[in-house]
Amino acid sequence: MQINRRQFLQYGVGASVATVFSPIVSSGLSEALAEEGRESLNVVKFKLNVGATKPFTAIHISDTHFAYADERNDERKRKLAENRFRYFSKGLSYFNAAVEYAKEKDAVLLHTGDLIDFVSEKNLDLVEEVYKNDFSRFSSSGNHEFSQYVGEAREDEAYKAQSFDRVQKSFPNDLKFCSRVINGVNFVAFDDVYYYVAENLVELFQKEIDKGLPIVTMCHVPFYTPDLFKYMIVDRKEQCAYVTGAPDEAMKEYKQDRFQQQRGDEKTVKFIEWLKGQSLVKALLCGHLHCNFEGPFSDSARQYVVGGNFKGDAYEFSFE
Ligand SMILES: [Fe+2]
Ligand SMILES: [Fe+2]
Repeated sequence: MQINRRQFLQYGVGASVATVFSPIVSSGLSEALAEEGRESLNVVKFKLNVGATKPFTAIHISDTHFAYADERNDERKRKLAENRFRYFSKGLSYFNAAVEYAKEKDAVLLHTGDLIDFVSEKNLDLVEEVYKNDFSRFSSSGNHEFSQYVGEAREDEAYKAQSFDRVQKSFPNDLKFCSRVINGVNFVAFDDVYYYVAENLVELFQKEIDKGLPIVTMCHVPFYTPDLFKYMIVDRKEQCAYVTGAPDEAMKEYKQDRFQQQRGDEKTVKFIEWLKGQSLVKALLCGHLHCNFEGPFSDSARQYVVGGNFKGDAYEFSFE
């Protein structure tokens, strides 16, 4: 279901004019952060009755795409930063706006990946800096977290392994699999950044099911559902849907490289089917598509895709 525009709520946080901030900065980070302005978020609100022990609020954002480089990087990466920054120049402002908004609401900030656009010292310094702030947060990774020059190589476990340890060090929680209970609701974050999941995900996830608490999942790439597929291909006229686990039949018009990239392997398709049967799973939060969408996933859960934090999209969930 496409989100009704009436659900949109403009929310301003602080000054609305951002300071021009170059993608290649040599000044101190704190200085750069202090100079950065605040943008207005487009917040869409949802109320979810999942059986929390106490009502609470969560702000869900995704796809901030920090795109910075500095003198520690080679010419190629600095050029990349310049090119990519044209699209993502407001990411930091909007991220800061989301942090402020979450603090005001006494809410946990949930981020479902692509906080950075590519691996660089500056981007990872920034991740550490923004997460050093004292606020409640939880995150899963995105495909761009391990991207070195963006699209220059086949992205698989071997590619991810080249930067994983360095990237993981800068993030506040485990990027492969992690859970956190908030007021009786178990948030389970896992990695599906390259359109497949880990071999042992069912096994890991079963331990979360065994806790007997309502579950909200967090991963980067949304799972295939007929509604979401139609929204991407028919309504948005995309050439592919950028979802995990689409059936081969649905992907027959995809270009060969996209078909190969987005074809869910056997363990992934099995995991998705297994997840649909888990009645404790109440909601799926994800991103990656850079547009808002929410729709049914299973008998017990809906899937919530939040758009780009780099353009101000944010969801606010009131959990009860
Ligand atoms: Fe993204
Ligand atoms: Fe992504």
